Amino acid sequence: MEEVVPGTNHKILIAYFSEPLPDGVDAVTSASRVLVNGDLYGSVQYVATVIGEATGGDMVRIQTAQPYPDKFDDLAEQANGERQNDIHPALATQINNFDDYDVVFVGYPIWWYQMPMAMYSFFDKFDCNGKTIIPFSTHGGSGWSGTLEDIRELVPNATLAKGYSISRNNTATSRDGILNWLQEIGLTE
Ligand SMILES: Cc1cc2nc3c(=O)[nH]c(=O)nc-3n(C[C@H](O)[C@H](O)[C@H](O)COP(=O)(O)O)c2cc1C
Repeated sequence: MEEVVPGTNHKILIAYFSEPLPDGVDAVTSASRVLVNGDLYGSVQYVATVIGEATGGDMVRIQTAQPYPDKFDDLAEQANGERQNDIHPALATQINNFDDYDVVFVGYPIWWYQMPMAMYSFFDKFDCNGKTIIPFSTHGGSGWSGTLEDIRELVPNATLAKGYSISRNNTATSRDGILNWLQEIGLTE
């Protein structure tokens, strides 16, 4: 893993998957939304927004062709079924000129101790080999949960740079931590 992103004059993409549940704010049980300055975000979405503002990169939200259920129990069951059956759901997301980006931030929540299966679809559809991939993730206690190793396997010929993982409980106050990390890896002054 690279501690500093190699090269200069990057063309940056921030691709993120976030499924904020409509019930509840700030992680009491299953809730996944964060409220910052009166605006409501999914936790991954919030981290993506801070990265976008700081780096000026283009943003794209990874979305499945079939939207996920918005009740936690239904979502959890569907996500688990996809995971157990290795289903890579079709994506609605299109990215223009993906080849032009040399640095791709890839953001996701931990679902069932791994990346949501839509992230596998992302890596199927968009060839990240040869690029620098910078993972970021939010979770409810599992940390990275092996996902860095999974990304390494999915894109063996990408450069993996040091990522950022944060509990959903701390996301709303994570702005400074995100900015420090971006500076540390050499993407901001
Ligand atoms: C279906 C589902 C499964 C989850 N599984 C885990 C898990 O295994 N470990 C964990 O730490 N958090 C888990 N979570 C919590 C999410 O990782 C956490 O709420 C995350 O911040 C959600 O990000 P989002 O609001 O951007 O979608 C799960 C959430 C959902 C909806």
